[in-house]
Amino acid sequence: MTRRKGIILAGGTGSRLWPITQGVSKQLMPVYDKPMIYYPLSVLMLAGIREIAVITTPEDQAQFQRLLGDGRQWGLALEWIVQARPEGLAQAYLLADSFLNGASSAMVLGDNIFFGHGLPEIMATADSRTGGTVFGYRVRDPERYGVVAFSAAGEVREIVEKPAQPPSNYAVTGLYFLDSSAPERARAVQPSERGELEIADLLESYRRDGALHVELMGRGYAWLDTGTHASLLDAGNFVRTLQDRQGTQVGCPEEIAFRNRWITPDDLNQRARIYDKTGYGAYLRGLLDEARA
Ligand code: DAU
Repeated sequence: MTRRKGIILAGGTGSRLWPITQGVSKQLMPVYDKPMIYYPLSVLMLAGIREIAVITTPEDQAQFQRLLGDGRQWGLALEWIVQARPEGLAQAYLLADSFLNGASSAMVLGDNIFFGHGLPEIMATADSRTGGTVFGYRVRDPERYGVVAFSAAGEVREIVEKPAQPPSNYAVTGLYFLDSSAPERARAVQPSERGELEIADLLESYRRDGALHVELMGRGYAWLDTGTHASLLDAGNFVRTLQDRQGTQVGCPEEIAFRNRWITPDDLNQRARIYDKTGYGAYLRGLLDEARA
């Protein structure tokens, strides 16, 4: 069991998805049959992390709390942190400093969706490493993301945020395994031209010290975008296609908690009852039947 703590960064204005996110936080938008935040939450759970801070805007916090509660239903301990203004991804480490209390962390962006067979394994490897680990993913449009520049020898030369001339096709995904020095390093990051504490600058601090590992996620993984109306719909369709075809759920916290033995069959049964009228409830009952067989 890891001692690493989790952070889900779920603030921001969601302005690129307006008007749909004008009244509701982006990370509460449906991705097919679940709220978006279920997917990154599931990723942290697959990494074996049970202590998780959820960072939201002050206005949206109550809605997230109504949805997720204190996490006990999934064997988790959730803490709630407010980010008053969206002043950058690296600011999360300043806000979470006392929650982390000297622990290393895995931070996931609340709008990032990952899917892939080997995900728990590559996260276990990241967990066991010192320094920091981020995941590179090949994309067609790297200029929209943080991008990894490699040297001819394949070493990481730089992490650059949204470069006009991308040095490679490898985007840095929104999942960051950083050691306990992250808050201290974040304190040294200066606001960028757009007034944000950039995650790229924090990662550069690790890289300069020879402490940044970039793990490439290969073709067998899906890292889905939810940044535009079209890509949000595509992500929903992807989840629907997989779930319908396989009869398994993507991003189901109850399932992960149950398989990790963080909740009992009785707990799972209670959860199934809440969702009695839905396919989600039927799926949870199916997990129970399978465990009893
Ligand atoms: O998705 C991966 C990308 O995420 C990385 O490749 C980039 O390096 C990283 O900067 C970030 O880029 P985005 O353009 O997606 O950042 P955005 O400002 O949209 O923020 C990402 C999420 O984090 C979004 O759901 C809102 C939330 N957020 C953002 C900021 C700046 C916060 O909660 N607080 C913030 O201060």
